[in-house]
Amino acid sequence: MATIGTDILSVKKLLSAGEVVGIPTETVYGLAGNAFNDDAVLKIFNVKNRPQFDPLIVHTDSIAHASTFVRSFPQKAKQLAEAFWPGPLTLLLPKSDTVSDLVTSGLSTVAVRIPNHPLTLELLASLDFPLAAPSANPFGYISPTSALHVENQLGKKIPYILDGGESTVGIESTIVGFEGEDAVVYRLGGIAVEAIEGIIGPVQTVSHSTSNPKAPGMLKSHYSPRKPLVINHLPEILQQYSPNKIGSLTFNHLVDSIPAENQRVLSPAADYPEAAKHLFAYMRQLDSLPIEVIYAELLPEKDLGRAINDRIRRAAVREV
Ligand code: TXA
Ligand code: MG
Repeated sequence: MATIGTDILSVKKLLSAGEVVGIPTETVYGLAGNAFNDDAVLKIFNVKNRPQFDPLIVHTDSIAHASTFVRSFPQKAKQLAEAFWPGPLTLLLPKSDTVSDLVTSGLSTVAVRIPNHPLTLELLASLDFPLAAPSANPFGYISPTSALHVENQLGKKIPYILDGGESTVGIESTIVGFEGEDAVVYRLGGIAVEAIEGIIGPVQTVSHSTSNPKAPGMLKSHYSPRKPLVINHLPEILQQYSPNKIGSLTFNHLVDSIPAENQRVLSPAADYPEAAKHLFAYMRQLDSLPIEVIYAELLPEKDLGRAINDRIRRAAVREV
């Protein structure tokens, strides 16, 4: 079992000694280690059971610090950083030699983010190195949005989880990279594409694939619960399963014919940020109910609905 607490000094000591720990962020909890220490970075991959070809995000606390481990900061990247940092935005920038190939899986860019969580910002300010941190879930499972989620899955493998309460955004950061002058969204996330376009104009969104090495986080079954999750097809599901063996995940309404206790409504008020905040916790709850299948509906394809749909699709076994 890991210690769960708010003792930043202990966490600082552990990280300085090359250990990896759970840290809170506004998006999801991270599994953090000294980004400048290859042994710590290797530990991250091992604890998560993550293949080393899947690079890590480096977390820091200021644009000035970020500038010390990137070779350049394009104009549009600066505009986005100024608009959204600290916050759920990750920028892919040309890496400097101080960042090891282990962190970036040999890519020439490094993913950088300033997370917006008071405890983690305080921790980062106390350290003289940045933190490499993927989401603190075993590779392929749903990301954690509370210290308890981390404890349940990785508690035996790490010494400490810094408890910062429930993540307020609830889905991972939006990842933006650059092709020449043009910004490209590689992962939909906690900042809506519309908000990014409001700062730098139209951007391209790269659709997810299992084989595109530049498309981050797009390995199949990335956010899967263990129970099969099916998008739509309710009549078929009802033919195959008895209603008390069906759970549901919907945006703002209950579904007739499924018991209410098996249902999770992301936001009765149809509020996208509220839906995002609940998404992963509700998937976990459904996964642990005595049901056999999860029926899910997609949200309207706008605002954070796009990122939420992306996660639901990748949790699904099939779709319409
Ligand atoms: O909100 C978040 O981003 C959370 C919190 C903890 O900050 N972190 C997170 O990390 O979601 P992770 O490792 O679960 O997802 C990061 C994704 C990975 O899929 C990885 O492939 C991609 O970012 N990535 C990292 N560095 C990259 C790079 N240089 N080029 C392309 N993709 C990169
Ligand atoms: Mg992840």
